[in-house]
Amino acid sequence: MKFTVAIDGPAAAGKGTISKAVAADFGFAHLDTGLLYRAVGAKVTDGSEAIAAAEGLTPEDLKRTDLRTMEAGQAASKVAVIPEVRAALVDFQRRFAAQAGGAVLDGRDIGTVICPDAEVKLFVTASAEVRAHRRWLEVGGDEAQVLAEVKERDDRDMNRADAPLKPADDAVLVDTSDLSIEEAVAAAVAAIKAKM
Ligand code: C5P
Repeated sequence: MKFTVAIDGPAAAGKGTISKAVAADFGFAHLDTGLLYRAVGAKVTDGSEAIAAAEGLTPEDLKRTDLRTMEAGQAASKVAVIPEVRAALVDFQRRFAAQAGGAVLDGRDIGTVICPDAEVKLFVTASAEVRAHRRWLEVGGDEAQVLAEVKERDDRDMNRADAPLKPADDAVLVDTSDLSIEEAVAAAVAAIKAKM
């Protein structure tokens, strides 16, 4: 039986952690859709190459070990503004969402564009300062620079013309600014159980 959980939100809000925990809890498959854009961004230096890279993306491309860096995140958000890149990735995501046994997809446009009929939609957010602090604990360096990069990526993701980052009208908001990981996961699990 199909059961899709769409989890959207800005960088470092806790989507990934929550998605993994929720998928494990309910026995659902999980797709981190940001990885698709990161893999495209890592393959290219300009827009025309990006479209071909998205159209020819393979499972091998997703296994690169350098996709989790801040640089890869910035490169991802630059190719993610190109409508043809987004279009090339739609079918794969929708097929994943429709698999029997349930699926969790996390990203920026899952509840609004990829899976508007998802059984559950969560919008996971936190203040830019809290998100930058969490990212800085992982990557180190200059915290003010990390905050600037988080804000730059938010700005690009929220203001692009195609599939901008925004909560779906029927999304449940989860603000993780003042929540522990356990509390954030519990809030997500409760929201999902309420729709089952
Ligand atoms: O979630 P993550 O930080 O890995 O995403 C990297 C970038 O990929 C985002 O900043 C965004 O520009 C893009 N993205 C997107 N749509 C998605 C997932 C990610 O545009 N569904």
